[in-house]
Amino acid sequence: MSEQHIKVALTDAPTEAERNAARKRLDALWGRGTEFLGTEYAILGGAMSWVSERNLVSAISNAGGFGVIACGAMEPARLAEEIKATRALTDRPFGVNLITMHPQLDELVQVCLDAGVGHIVLAGGIPPGAAIKAIKEGGAKVIAFSPALVLAKRLIKMGVDALVIEGAEAGGHIGPVSLTVLAQEILPHIQSVPVFVAGGLARGDALLSYLELGASGGQLGTLFAAAEESIAHEKFKKAFVRAAARDAVTSVQLDERFPVIPVRALGNEGGRQFVSHQADVIRRFQAGELTREAAQLEIEHFWAGALRRAVIDGDVEQGSVMAGQSVGMVKSVQPVAQIIKDLVEQATVALVRQQRRMDADG
Ligand SMILES: Cc1cc2nc3c(=O)[nH]c(=O)nc-3n(C[C@H](O)[C@H](O)[C@H](O)COP(=O)(O)O)c2cc1C
Repeated sequence: MSEQHIKVALTDAPTEAERNAARKRLDALWGRGTEFLGTEYAILGGAMSWVSERNLVSAISNAGGFGVIACGAMEPARLAEEIKATRALTDRPFGVNLITMHPQLDELVQVCLDAGVGHIVLAGGIPPGAAIKAIKEGGAKVIAFSPALVLAKRLIKMGVDALVIEGAEAGGHIGPVSLTVLAQEILPHIQSVPVFVAGGLARGDALLSYLELGASGGQLGTLFAAAEESIAHEKFKKAFVRAAARDAVTSVQLDERFPVIPVRALGNEGGRQFVSHQADVIRRFQAGELTREAAQLEIEHFWAGALRRAVIDGDVEQGSVMAGQSVGMVKSVQPVAQIIKDLVEQATVALVRQQRRMDADG
């Protein structure tokens, strides 16, 4: 085949037969993930506090993905209500994300089990063995986050059924390592459970590359936060559409004696004030006006309620506009079904191109 011929062949629209073959291959690549989740596509909507409620979660599940309710600080009765309301909007599977340090974790687990939730995601630290046991005995599956290979192995020994590895590109609370590195560190060594990748994903062809490295699916947050069905304030979504990748920055820590939990969010006035707030607290600590504990608490309290202010009230200047670096690829507010359709199409086209390249090479 001539060079010119290959060029044309690689850019031509896929034929029906090529598309079907590529979709079959995609179904095989993420088959373990779709089977585990009970979905058409192995695409999870990462839980996002205030954002991942009945509307967004049901929209993701109805579009063939896997929506996850963010329990956050909800009380058990409130969570029960949210699960019920979500179920009224979809008959497809969805999960619930619980924060391990929630003081009523055991009750929240019971609420999920009583409601027949099939998958519980435990986030925010190493999950307690008792919670894992209770979930499994209750007939549901446990998904946990692993920021390193040793921890992944430990979590599997503890009984978790699937892992999410989330790179530092992600929005919200993050670890220090990028998905590119985590994937290489973890994916080749974990075969016993499905592993879902997260952080910085905005295109199906990129997700495909992780499936080819051994991932069973992907989790996205930022793209879905800006979706039409997301209840996030119009100003929150507008900020996403306007932002470039480099606008999604990590929180600044001024003094290592006063650790700041790393969070990725759009840089704004609140972020700048957080730096001067820390400087002021440190000055008062050094002057003997504050104990170390009181100083640490003052720093931690700065962001209390800030995500809600941004998501619900639309205060994108003072609030915490949590967003991943993939925010630069959010070009408009789109329905969830379109976002998922595009992801699947991009993966499919990439597989068609791959096949054509192989055919051209003989
Ligand atoms: C606004 C926002 C809020 C989030 N809140 C949570 C949360 O409450 N619990 C959690 O486990 N992850 C949370 N995340 C992380 C997402 O579940 C998901 O893993 C992440 O967004 C994936 O990376 P991406 O943003 O690059 O797509 C949040 C992310 C965003 C953007």
